[in-house]
Amino acid sequence: MIFSTVEQAPADPLFGLNDAFKADQRPEKVNLGIGVYKADDGTTPILDAVKTAEARLLETEKTKVYLGIEGESQYNLGVQKLLFGENSELLSQQRVETLQAPGGTGALRLGAEFLIRQTKTKTIWVSNPTWANHSNIFSTAGFEIKEYDYYNSDSHGLDFEGMISSLSNAKAGDIVLFHSCCHNPTGIDLNAEQWNAIAIVCVEKQLVPFFDFAYQGFGHGIEEDAQGLRIVAAQVPELLVANSFSKNFGLYNERIGAVTLVAENTSTAQKSYSQIKRIVRAMYSNPPAHGALIVSTILNDAKLTMQWHNELKQMRERIAQMRQLFVNTLNAEGVTQDFSFISDQIGMFSFSGLTKEQVEKLKSEYGVYIVGSGRISVAGMTTTNIPVICKAIAQVL
Ligand code: LMR
Repeated sequence: MIFSTVEQAPADPLFGLNDAFKADQRPEKVNLGIGVYKADDGTTPILDAVKTAEARLLETEKTKVYLGIEGESQYNLGVQKLLFGENSELLSQQRVETLQAPGGTGALRLGAEFLIRQTKTKTIWVSNPTWANHSNIFSTAGFEIKEYDYYNSDSHGLDFEGMISSLSNAKAGDIVLFHSCCHNPTGIDLNAEQWNAIAIVCVEKQLVPFFDFAYQGFGHGIEEDAQGLRIVAAQVPELLVANSFSKNFGLYNERIGAVTLVAENTSTAQKSYSQIKRIVRAMYSNPPAHGALIVSTILNDAKLTMQWHNELKQMRERIAQMRQLFVNTLNAEGVTQDFSFISDQIGMFSFSGLTKEQVEKLKSEYGVYIVGSGRISVAGMTTTNIPVICKAIAQVL
């Protein structure tokens, strides 16, 4: 027997928590763990733009024949325009190649496999803290993980000096993973000036940026959230982007994202693209079509695009309102600890500063689920559950 020696794997920090939440029988339980947007009625609805696109696809789709290894070409082009802008020089210079990928995680893994197989680089720098799955993805692909400073736990803000100082220890050819916007888990982003300084460090030290772009439009807007990526891309010769449409199109279970590579010239971009295709072929051959067809249907129709923009804006604004309501309700509950930083942060998440023990107590005694690190999914808050959450937090502090 060969399976008898296999040991039990630990539960995933995010999906494991989700499973525990589902198994919890308490009716008043609240899930602020995994990053899933909730409307104020507590549901995660399908966007109207998506429903319309799907209805159209049902009418017009004539075949289920394979996509190419790289996925749907209209979709890939749409991704490039969202990332770099309609009139991007990078696109006209033909330095960009995009492959549809199974979600943001799939895109990160494809990028990681490409880098480890095709380049001499073996080290990736990730922010401290970062998304729980980053080191898992990159170490599985064979990377050594190093951390750069990012978060100041006293000010609940960015430790930019620490970030620059950590990166000064990076070596030429090292990869640096950046969160393009809505940093997960802290909700703290760089401003344009800071992105510019990062671009200069990357150029001087010959570091290769790898952008994880999972929340475009959840911060300040579609174009605004791409600012950091575009500032850096205008200065460095090469970079990678892994993007996801799980959140901004609400297409979580369609597993729809893309890996995009920018090279210093067309020929290098095309050769690199051919190698990523080879990796895809060996892993899953070619991607599923439905998510990509939804996104490209929306992006190629001005009315549907407008509708998507509006729906995305509603989600973004609702999260910002929940941030403020959360802070106000904590105050009303008599909490004296300052949580006002939560209303300054953006995107789905905030780092609450709650300890492991407090997080555990919130779960076991009050049925409020947040990630062990203290990360809260603000996108899971509603006007109904905020009073429950705040009462519980007031009790565990
Ligand atoms: C999260 O961080 O909760 C999300 O990005 C979901 C995931 O895939 O982990």
